[in-house]
Amino acid sequence: MSFIKLNNVDKTFFPNSVREHHALKNVSLDIKKGDFITVIGGNGAGKSTLLNAIAGSFSLDSGSIVINGVDVTKTVEHKRAKYISRVFQNPMQGTAPRMTVAENMALSYSRVGKKFFKFSLTKNRKTYFKEQLLTLNLGLEDRLDSEMGVLSGGQRQAISLLMATMQTPKLLLLDEHTAALDPKTQQIIMEITDKVVKEKEITTLMITHNINDALKYGNRLIVLNQGEIVKDIKNEDKEKLTAIDIFNMLDNF
Ligand SMILES: Nc1ncnc2c1ncn2[C@@H]1O[C@H](COP(=O)(O)OP(=O)(O)OP(=O)(O)O)[C@@H](O)[C@H]1O
Ligand SMILES: [Mg+2]
Repeated sequence: MSFIKLNNVDKTFFPNSVREHHALKNVSLDIKKGDFITVIGGNGAGKSTLLNAIAGSFSLDSGSIVINGVDVTKTVEHKRAKYISRVFQNPMQGTAPRMTVAENMALSYSRVGKKFFKFSLTKNRKTYFKEQLLTLNLGLEDRLDSEMGVLSGGQRQAISLLMATMQTPKLLLLDEHTAALDPKTQQIIMEITDKVVKEKEITTLMITHNINDALKYGNRLIVLNQGEIVKDIKNEDKEKLTAIDIFNMLDNF
């Protein structure tokens, strides 16, 4: 059964001007519950735009988006944010640098709307956040009172990921969330991502320029080119894919 459906989603930025750009061309996509989809494609292919369309960052020119049987095409971004979590490329995005780790976590926790969990930091809540940080296995459980801004990019991304998944979202959108990190930290964050996504069975779309990650993780891979999904490779077919297949594929566009 489909969980998220994009029906002929179309978007042109700056229509009727010299900057006109047809960013999404009649994109249809049927996402099953628990799908972990890696998204690849060249710069400007429309990957971020696709995720932004699902998150509701702009209104569509035509087409519709249905999540769990509910048409959300006209639902504003902050309402969708109650069940869609995102992590971006820039470790500075999505967290408040002058607030502590615990305060950031409390803020993201309360934003998702559990009424009893108002923004305040009781001892219990701190203990809960500490337990959550422990699962990352990065020693961050001792940094609850550190300002977010003093942590490294990798530490911030790990916490961003935790904040995005602490209250299991219906959908997780990752836009090159490891791209700004060194190779070793990239690997650590990818392993944490995979673990959380699998354990919580979170339906996930992950954009990456790292072909090996695109192959290694997830059960489905889509390739975007000039605003269109030009490949959609699932399960066993994805498992058989090699990096060379992907380079050849990308070369042909
Ligand atoms: N809000 C916007 N306003 C105007 N143009 C936009 C907007 N968002 C995206 N675009 C344009 O749409 C096209 C696709 O951009 P998008 O960011 O989706 O590419 P991408 O595949 O994510 O590329 P990259 O790998 O570089 O991140 C680009 O030409 C971009 O300039
Ligand atoms: Mg992008």
